[in-house]
Amino acid sequence: MNSDFSKKQKLFIRRAFDLARLAEGSAVPNPMVGAVIVFRDRIIGEGYFKGFGQPHAEVNAVANVKESDRQYLTQSEIYVSLEPCNFFGKTPPCTSLILKSKIPKVIISTIDKTPQVSGNGIDLLRKNGVEVLTGILEKEGNELVKYRTNYVERDSPFVILKYAKSKDGFIGQKNKSVWITNHFSKTLVHKWRSEINAIMIGTNTARQDNPKLTNRLYFGKDPLRIVLDRKNDLPEDLHIFSDGLPTWQITENLSRTFSQKNITQIEIPFDDFLLKNLLTKMHQEKVGTLLVEGGAQLLQSFINQGLWQEARIFEGNKYLKKGILAPQLPVSPNEEFEIENDILRIFHNP
Ligand SMILES: NC(=O)c1ccc[n+]([C@@H]2O[C@H](COP(=O)([O-])OP(=O)(O)OC[C@H]3O[C@@H](n4cnc5c(N)ncnc54)[C@H](OP(=O)(O)O)[C@@H]3O)[C@@H](O)[C@H]2O)c1
Ligand SMILES: [Zn+2]
Repeated sequence: MNSDFSKKQKLFIRRAFDLARLAEGSAVPNPMVGAVIVFRDRIIGEGYFKGFGQPHAEVNAVANVKESDRQYLTQSEIYVSLEPCNFFGKTPPCTSLILKSKIPKVIISTIDKTPQVSGNGIDLLRKNGVEVLTGILEKEGNELVKYRTNYVERDSPFVILKYAKSKDGFIGQKNKSVWITNHFSKTLVHKWRSEINAIMIGTNTARQDNPKLTNRLYFGKDPLRIVLDRKNDLPEDLHIFSDGLPTWQITENLSRTFSQKNITQIEIPFDDFLLKNLLTKMHQEKVGTLLVEGGAQLLQSFINQGLWQEARIFEGNKYLKKGILAPQLPVSPNEEFEIENDILRIFHNP
């Protein structure tokens, strides 16, 4: 790994990060990747990976170079947020493209943890005489591919816990739907929903709040909804069952079946391994990221079993005085943001 990078080099890799982020929500469980081709401090081509089955960032960047600039490829450097792939997947390897294009220098932020790649892409380029620098703004590069890294290293989705609590520490009240955060926080949650694969809720939350769990205040793909319904008796007219969008109903008995095609019933024992087994099932079905949106009991089970990677917790500007107490996280926040009169705290599971 190299450590001394110039301001200019950091500027170019940041441009690659920004490009990568354009695929937020459409790439997972594949990684977000951006690439920028630079000739004498001028960007002559750039691209990013848009999602499953699409050309890789490097391919788009090379294709983006104007005819009149092609002659400069042999004197350019390519900045990539992630190590170029070196295997035939849906597309030919990007290492071959770089060699064929005779680009002499590659600057990489982070190594691709996919087992077939994992340093092999870099080795191959170096063996063929390409100068390769790695580790530029690596922390940011790792953050961009954290869902992907989780996907290839573990047999579970990346689990994000999310809830809102009042100033006095309640997340809601029994048999009553209460709203805790402001409109900006709500919109942000809808943005998050467009970036993840699935949302999970507990039985009481489904019954009491009847949430839609869509990203209607943002744009992009709606997530899969997953609801615990042990006794299989949640009302059929709940939004998550009746709105035509995909929902998994997790149950212990299949006495009732649904005619709606959007509902997938999953029969599974509600034992101590329920959440662990469900996460494995999600991973098998290529659910790369899961947002757990409550209520308190479900969130606390994830916390107690250590089955989470990140938590995003809002504190609204309201007092509820009584109600259902918010879950307890065993760690301190890593980051804190003000969203008008709400506070958002981000926690990482160490
Ligand atoms: N402020 C927020 O961010 C927020 C978000 C969501 C909900 N809420 C509020 O939270 C309240 C509901 O919370 P809650 O704690 O009562 O309910 P909940 O977590 O939504 O649901 C609890 C029920 O879900 C099932 N369940 C949950 N975890 C389970 C596990 N690990 N294994 C097996 N079954 C599990 C059980 O159902 P069975 O006992 O039937 O099997 C349990 O009784 C509502 O007032 C809602 O408005 C607030
Ligand atoms: Zn590639």
